[in-house]
Parts: sequence; C-alpha cells; structure tokens
Amino acid sequence: MSVMTAADHRIPQDQADLLGTPAAYADGRIHETYRWLRANEPFGVAKIEGVDPFWVVTRHADILEISRQNDLFRNGDRNPVITSQEADRKVREMMGGSPHLLRTLIHMDAPDHLKYRALTQAWFMPQNLRSMEDRIRVIARAAVDKMAAAGGRCDFVHDVALHFPLHVIMSILGVPEADEPRMLQLTQEIFGAGDPELSRNKAAAKPPEERQEVDFSMVTDFFNYFRALSAEKRANPTDDLGSVIANSQIDGQPLSDLEAMSYYIIIATAGHDTTSSSTAGALWALAENPAELAKVKADLSLIPSLVDESIRWTTPVKTFMRTASQDVEFAGRDLKKGDWLMLCYASANRDEAVFDEPFAFRVDRKPNKHLAFGYGAHLCLGQHLAKMEMRILWEEMLPRLDELALDGTPALSEAVFVNGPKRLPVRFAMR
Ligand code: HEM
Repeated sequence: MSVMTAADHRIPQDQADLLGTPAAYADGRIHETYRWLRANEPFGVAKIEGVDPFWVVTRHADILEISRQNDLFRNGDRNPVITSQEADRKVREMMGGSPHLLRTLIHMDAPDHLKYRALTQAWFMPQNLRSMEDRIRVIARAAVDKMAAAGGRCDFVHDVALHFPLHVIMSILGVPEADEPRMLQLTQEIFGAGDPELSRNKAAAKPPEERQEVDFSMVTDFFNYFRALSAEKRANPTDDLGSVIANSQIDGQPLSDLEAMSYYIIIATAGHDTTSSSTAGALWALAENPAELAKVKADLSLIPSLVDESIRWTTPVKTFMRTASQDVEFAGRDLKKGDWLMLCYASANRDEAVFDEPFAFRVDRKPNKHLAFGYGAHLCLGQHLAKMEMRILWEEMLPRLDELALDGTPALSEAVFVNGPKRLPVRFAMR
C-alpha cells in the first residue's frame, strides 16, 4: 500500500470518523461533514481505524475531473467500494490475491470494461427502452392502483417504491416473479449490511468477523441462485437479458462463472434499489414541500425535471472509490500511485459552487448537472431506464394524487455505500 503524502491535508478525526459511520448517512450528519469539507478541506486525507487511508473528494468539479480520467483513476486496482483492511485481507486470501470478490463492470478497467459493457449496453439505450414503455406503464399503473386502494395511508417505501422497479428489472433479466421477494431481500441485506434493521441476522451489530461471514454468505446465495438461472437460460434461451449474459462470448470465449454471476448480481442489485430510493426520496420531499407538489401537478411537463431533482436530492449511491494509477499532481495535491480516493457524489450534488440553494428541493431546477449517476466510462448503465421508470410512475400518479402529507417519522437506511429511505409513512387522497 502506498503512503499518503498529505500530512498537511489530514481531515480532522471527528469528521473523518463520520465518513465511515453508516448512521451518519441516515441522520443527516454526513451533509454537515460534507459542507464543512467542501469549505475547508475539499481534497483531504481521512484516516479511520481499520481502514487504509484515503483521499476524500467532495467538490463537484474534482469528482467530475477524476471520473472522466479513467486511465489515471482506475476502478480495479483496489476495491471500488470502501472496505476494511481485515475484509480486504480475507478477500485477497480467498481470491488468489485479487481485491475483488466479484468482477462486475464497476471492478473493471480498459480494455475489459468496454467489452463487457458492450454486451448489454444496447439494451439500456433509449431506442430499445422505448419499446418497453407500454409494458413499464402497465407495471407503474398497477403500483399506483395499489396505492389508491390502500385507503389513504401507506408506507410508501414498502407498499409502492420497492416493488415497481424491482418488477421491471427482474422481468428484463428474466427472473420469475415468484423469486422477486428473494431478490429484494438479498439486495436490501447487501446494501443494508451496516443497518441494524436491514442487515441479515442483525449482523450490523455484530463483531467484524461475523459481519464478514454474513457478507460472504449473501454473495454465495446470489451466486447459487444465478448459477441455476444461467444454466436454465443456456438450455432454453429467450430474448431476455438473462439469456444474453448466459450465452455471450468475450474474445470468442463464454464468460467465466465469476464474471457471469457478477454481471447478474450488478444488474439485479443496482437495477432497482437506487430507483426505489430516488422515487421515495421525491415523495418524501414533495410531502414536505406542498408548493413544489402543487407546481408539478399544475404543469406535468415538469416531470422530467422532478425526476432529475429527486435523483440529485436523494443521491442513493453515496460513494465509489478510485485508485491512482501513477504519481500525479492533482487539484494541488501530490497523489502517489496506489492512493485510494473516495468520490462523495452526495456532496457534489449539494455543492454551492454548482447548485443554487442546493439544500432546497425544486421540481423545476434547471440546469441540474448532478453526478448521482457518476461520470466517464462507468457512467450508470441504467440511467435512461431509471429515469424512464420514474417519469412513467409520476405520470400515472400525480394526476390522481390530491393530498399528501407525512404520517409519522420517515427513516433513511444506514449505509456508507448505497442508501435511501427505508420507511416513509404518508397520508394521501387519491382519485
Ligand atoms: C436512480 C437510479 C440509479 C442511480 C442513482 C445509479 C447510480 C450509479 C452510479 C453512481 C454508478 C457508478 C458510476 C461511476 O462510477 O462513474 C452506476 C453504475 C452502474 N449502474 Fe446505476 N444507478 C441507478 C440505476 C440503475 C439501474 C436501473 C440499473 C439497471 C441496469 C443500473 C446499473 C448500473 C450498472 C451496471 C453500473 C456499472 C456501469 C459501469 O461500471 O460501466 N443502475 N450507477
């Protein structure tokens, strides 16, 4: 591991510790830390016990610049998700020296990354998605009908937001509907591993070794499930995305077991949780800002901008890591080859230098150059699908929604990597 050469840019310990504290992402303290960092140490080093030191990048301009320089700031040289030294050691031991338990697009760099991305990219392009619009609208309408039938009160996360994008992505993948609850639970357990309520067997409260065992068991469950699905799609290919992954070749060879399973896992996890979170984040903000709800209800052409704002506002993917591939001076800092950098997307999306009143939720915010989908070669593969799903849901829901208010205390999940609303009790009147 390289030595950080930035003693003069060390982040104060209390702020650094919050960056690694899942609860801080649920109770709002992280935004105070980000605000402080943007103003005082926008590119500093955090040293947290049990974690290798890392640079913390909080300004929009720096995150954008790092994300677009994929040769200089690589994904695969170290873990692209923040991890402890102990977990890193265990993974390397299990994986013959590699820092990766999975090999998804997020773990790859050129030249492999592009080859693997090309396998599914066309599926997620707007012209292909257009052919799915009617199907997605039927699913959205069913979700809204269910909400309308709930009698004026529901937990929007559980009753609406979770199931709609889940059903869309699972039908794209070719996962049978009966298995959707299992996919949902596994995703929530993986992203909620640091949350006392969502983690498997309440592992978040257990010692690190036990937590790691649980982490490995969840990945094993996903592997077992998708290994069977993949065999089925090889035996009986259809026109779904699961069959594409099962039957594709790279450089004339089928995908290895690790790469195929990783592909299924990233689509099955990234493909719904983030979209559910942005949808619920928007409804929460609309319940708290009746004037914004009235504005978009009065002018439904604002829905695409409501969607952008809800993604900026929620920023479900809080962080990804990059690794410097060579010594370089960047943003006035002396980076060394092997240095690890945390890109704080949620900070970029509240950056006062880019957004007017960043802490205000505005359905008509324009421009809205948020970085919630990242940028550069790894720019979210599913961004058009996510935006389309949300647009359709609001088109179906807003004309029918007459009143909306919170009906108790909402809660965000506790996670450093991917989080969002886990509870959103609301009262409403619907036609
Ligand atoms: C609001 C919803 C979503 C958000 C906020 C989101 C966010 C992100 C972010 C931040 C990245 C990393 C970008 C980077 O490192 O530069 C990413 C990558 C990715 N996302 Fe999404 N995502 C969303 C929805 C989806 C959906 C619906 C899918 C469905 C397939 C998806 C699949 C992926 C994949 C496969 C990658 C890896 C791309 C690569 O490395 O080339 N995401 N997403």
